[in-house]
Amino acid sequence: MIEQKGMFNNIYKNLVTPILKKDAGIDAEYLTNFSLSLLTFSSNNRNWPLISRIINNLNKELCVVDRRLHQKICGIDFSNPVGLAAGFDKNGNAANIWSDFGFGFAEIGTVTKFPQAGNAKPRLFRLAKEEAALNRMGFNNNGAENLVKNFLKQGVGLSKNRKNNCLGINFGKSKITSLSMATEDYLTSLKLLIPYCNYAAINVSSPNTEGLRKLQDPILLKELLREVKKLDNCPPIFVKIAPDLSYKDIEDICQLIIDENIDGIIATNTSLDRLGLEQRKIQQTGLLLNEENGGLSGRPLQLKANEIIRHIHNINNNINLIGVGGIDSPESAWERICSGASLIQIYTGWIYKGPQLVPDILNGIIKQLNNHQLSNIKEAIGSNLEWIE
Ligand SMILES: Cc1cc2nc3c(=O)[nH]c(=O)nc-3n(C[C@H](O)[C@H](O)[C@H](O)COP(=O)(O)O)c2cc1C
Repeated sequence: MIEQKGMFNNIYKNLVTPILKKDAGIDAEYLTNFSLSLLTFSSNNRNWPLISRIINNLNKELCVVDRRLHQKICGIDFSNPVGLAAGFDKNGNAANIWSDFGFGFAEIGTVTKFPQAGNAKPRLFRLAKEEAALNRMGFNNNGAENLVKNFLKQGVGLSKNRKNNCLGINFGKSKITSLSMATEDYLTSLKLLIPYCNYAAINVSSPNTEGLRKLQDPILLKELLREVKKLDNCPPIFVKIAPDLSYKDIEDICQLIIDENIDGIIATNTSLDRLGLEQRKIQQTGLLLNEENGGLSGRPLQLKANEIIRHIHNINNNINLIGVGGIDSPESAWERICSGASLIQIYTGWIYKGPQLVPDILNGIIKQLNNHQLSNIKEAIGSNLEWIE
């Protein structure tokens, strides 16, 4: 039965959800690119009367405005705590439209200094039964210079002049750049894009760029972060970490974040662990799931990503945390916040559940604030409060 929530929800449930019920069928990357091109067209032409009307309706259906959801973190105003995670809008093609989908912020990228094609296709696989995905995209993106052009084309203003369109940019290392030259690679992209970032995410955790995760080593990470912090007008910096780190590694990174005065951590990226998923043959390649390279996202990641947030919050509750990984319901969003995340991000859950997930999460949070008699979301962060029906 289709729930009567709104026009866009019904369209999504009728047209897209049936495709997402099977691993095979329309290729996952093709589907992503197709939807992104519709959004890009809308973002570039949002003043056309028909498109403007559609966007207004989208806004009415999906945006939840409530002052109790507002937070100021590192000087940035977040109208609500739900963001789009990195990797969906890698080139910022639709950067102007994410707030109309109800997001409090969106993370553009990963962008690299050099344009690059990424890994060979197929490289994104649906795991429908578990509402998960396996990807080894490999930072396919058009490069930092092109991202600036895309921002200019859509009229995405400088970060300091923007209202209600909070954008983080996620930076990675180009594939052709050796690990010893990584710092220069990150700095080049950052220098071009600083004027457009509300915050910068330093991505050292993608499993799909050879050697990148070595930058999570505290000595290499310290060198990178120190240079980043020296940049003129450096925005707030968040470091995005992998879910496959040991607790000892996480503690070392937390110490570094504190010592170097870094603004926060985004936890987590996709996992190399197969997280107990049922073994099956991936139809597009004929290989078993365990034989495929790539990172796992979606519901199976929920528990691990939540535990990491809880662990970091217990180590030091002054570290700003963005929780990401397997959030796909108001309950899982509330749990992440109560474990210590000030902000959360969604990707795979958003694809499976559709755009309605954003207002569902936000209305769920408001309901919990009422049930627990809290006056602002800040009071829920790290509170370990249960979900009350
Ligand atoms: C297809 C795909 C591409 C991704 N690309 C990036 C990326 O370029 N940079 C990044 O930091 N994370 C990337 N991610 C990871 C997500 O941002 C997120 O950390 C991860 O998917 C866990 O969240 P989820 O379970 O809500 O999807 C990607 C994830 C997916 C599924």
